[in-house]
Amino acid sequence: MGDLYAYSIDTMLRNQSASGAYIASPAFSQYGYCWLRDGSFTAYAMDRAGRYDSTKAFLRWVNRTIQQHAYKVDAVLKKDLSELGENDYLHCRYTVDGAEVEELWTNFQLDGYGTWLWAVAEHTKMVGDDALLRELLPGIALTLRYLVHLWQRPNYDLWEEHLDKVHTSTLAALYGGMRALLDLPAPELDPFRPLMAALAREIKNFVLENCVSDGHLVKYIGTDAVDASLVSVCTPYRLLDPSDPVMVATIEKIERDLVHDGGTHRYMLDTYYGGGEWTLLSAWLGWYFAEVGNSERAREYLQWVARQADEKDDLPEQATGHLLFPERYAEWEKLWGQVAKPLVWSHAMYLLLGIVLGETGSQVETETLHDKERK
Ligand code: BGC
Repeated sequence: MGDLYAYSIDTMLRNQSASGAYIASPAFSQYGYCWLRDGSFTAYAMDRAGRYDSTKAFLRWVNRTIQQHAYKVDAVLKKDLSELGENDYLHCRYTVDGAEVEELWTNFQLDGYGTWLWAVAEHTKMVGDDALLRELLPGIALTLRYLVHLWQRPNYDLWEEHLDKVHTSTLAALYGGMRALLDLPAPELDPFRPLMAALAREIKNFVLENCVSDGHLVKYIGTDAVDASLVSVCTPYRLLDPSDPVMVATIEKIERDLVHDGGTHRYMLDTYYGGGEWTLLSAWLGWYFAEVGNSERAREYLQWVARQADEKDDLPEQATGHLLFPERYAEWEKLWGQVAKPLVWSHAMYLLLGIVLGETGSQVETETLHDKERK
């Protein structure tokens, strides 16, 4: 195995189109598009690796894409909520040119829009300059109008499932976007501050009142089960502090119910490709442990993720060595082929954890293979 950090950067760059969009997974039939969620985490990891140009290109692509579909936001705001059909909403993924994908998909997902706002704010903080923020204001304004209107509406979660539920991690993503923007001293955000502050407060209260059961957060309103994506409520969205007792209880339950030898299942009833262990989720839990100062546990997750890389260093979406529903694997393989690999988001989360742990050394700063090839 070579240097998995440098290879991860290569993978992200290789799958970034000239438009700025990152393709989720180039070889997987359904993932040849750019998701706002995957892309925003990838852009954030690139920022942390000092690859600001890549991040900027992605953030600009989203801004253009949202404006391209501004007519949908206007239409959503005009219609009665009860009249809205699934295709009225903004989509969760686009072609690299920012067009909607024609195929039927579970497109109504709000979390990616919150995650984009968060990535914009983090980028602004990291580079210490408002120039790009000013440029992105039209997209930010549209996104805020859209989210303020729809935040309480049930929509598909980050796993693109359960349209009829209100998902805790989705609410956290919206909160995270607002909170991160509110933290910026940028005067150009002043017109939006009252709206963002009110919404962030409302979302937080709503989550605390409706999304906690038995002292821990729940996957969606109406269940007692957890989902590994609940880690996002603190890391990075900070709806709760990592040391908050509810957060601590949630992480303990995630580890008890969903982690198997370092590999992390999404949730207990997951049947997608038999319900394997997601590399990006193990990296995400590692990120949490790094934040609370448990670098030993964080490193264990990092190492588990690294072990899932194949001989080319490609990381899969999920490892299939421990399936929750092995009998359900074949039907997906028949439908869409093998599990997605490489998954760009998995590489992003691995790199991010490596950086947070200070494991990457100078490797990520140096010229990567891809740069050399491009010359
Ligand atoms: C995952 C999503 C992801 C998409 C593209 C789906 O299977 O559930 O979280 O955005 O793949 O990677």
